[in-house]
Amino acid sequence: MKVLLTGGAGYIGSHTAVELLENGYDVVIGDNFVNSKPEVLEKIKQITGKNFKFYEADFTKKEDVENIFKTEGDIDVVVHFAGLKAVGESCSIPVSYYRNNIDSTLTLLEMMKQYDCKNLVFSSSATVYGVPKTVPLKEDMPTSCTNPYGWTKLMNEQILTDVAKSNPDLSIVLLRYFNPIGAHASGLIGEDPNGIPNNLMPYITKVAKGVYPNLNVYGNDYPTKDGTGVRDYIHVVDLAKGHLKAIEYSLKHRGVETFNLGTGNGYSVLDIVNTFTAVNHVNVPYQIVERRPGDVAECYADATKANQILHWKAEKNLEDMCKDSWNFVSHQS
Ligand code: NAD
Ligand code: WQD
Repeated sequence: MKVLLTGGAGYIGSHTAVELLENGYDVVIGDNFVNSKPEVLEKIKQITGKNFKFYEADFTKKEDVENIFKTEGDIDVVVHFAGLKAVGESCSIPVSYYRNNIDSTLTLLEMMKQYDCKNLVFSSSATVYGVPKTVPLKEDMPTSCTNPYGWTKLMNEQILTDVAKSNPDLSIVLLRYFNPIGAHASGLIGEDPNGIPNNLMPYITKVAKGVYPNLNVYGNDYPTKDGTGVRDYIHVVDLAKGHLKAIEYSLKHRGVETFNLGTGNGYSVLDIVNTFTAVNHVNVPYQIVERRPGDVAECYADATKANQILHWKAEKNLEDMCKDSWNFVSHQS
């Protein structure tokens, strides 16, 4: 079974590549390294002891994508991770976000049609729930967005739904990820963003490493148990395993289906800081600052649908997520 991972050198894609290779899949990765490094490819080989094909390719460019399909011939499933993902940056350079995140999907769909590939798993996001009226979030709840990045995800969901409707032979699985953190247990791959991190865990690990003096906790006056924001953090290896289930599902079903991939548990910013310091025996000084514009108080999944239909459930707990994040970052130079 041959699976093409667009953006497979990235954080979630690299962990998914490992799980696929360890489960006997034939993996093909395409990436342009706009937000990842070529070294990741060697690490995937080191972890799995297995080889795979790699193409340096920009998925917005027809010739790059056509080259992959033409050379490979028989791709059974595409998992489309490739995309730009920084919320703040998407507000400063929205055209680049729309161009990259929408064009890559359209180009991919054209090539899939041309080369008769019928199965696609798409990386969507819990960001499509906008400002939730109630939690936990179920897949059929209303969607909306608060930033261009989020809109690219929602627009892609719409495009893929329309395309699935137009051709009953197609199978499209939309996966709405909640907040992935953690890293592979080997410590060889993980999240290593360039520049100042936007997300909580990468910032915490930089504070623990002494790169920044303290964490800014964005607000402690939310209507939550300790006043700080609550999210559904999910271990990236659990998330990667969810993709295997989604691939299996896509091969057996037609049409479009949406699944939340989260744990169903909400943890506050201070839960994360306290667990991280306790399990790793490191200090994470923090200060409470103003709320970050655009943040919501609480966002966590109802993960029942993925459990019932995909037979998938997150297995790792918050301690594992905090330990594995630190294991990866503390071994980086
Ligand atoms: P990432 O940035 O680590 O990985 C994305 C990869 O895609 C990178 O390797 C990048 O170089 C590549 N890429 C981007 N545009 C490309 C293009 N035009 N052609 C070829 N390669 C391209 O991000 P990630 O955290 O692994 O996220 C993967 C997907 O999941 C993204 O679509 C992201 O929006 C989505 N997602 C991520 C999160 C999260 O918090 N990490 C949450 C929800 C959804
Ligand atoms: C988590 C909590 C912050 C940093 C984003 C995207 C979403 C998805 C996942 C892609 C919040 C607080 C954070 C810091 C803090 N990505 N925080 N200090 O905002 O839930 O989701 O990543 O699809 O689309 O919006 O994640 O990690 O940025 O924040 O106090 O330095 O940590 O206020 O409560 P978020 P996050």
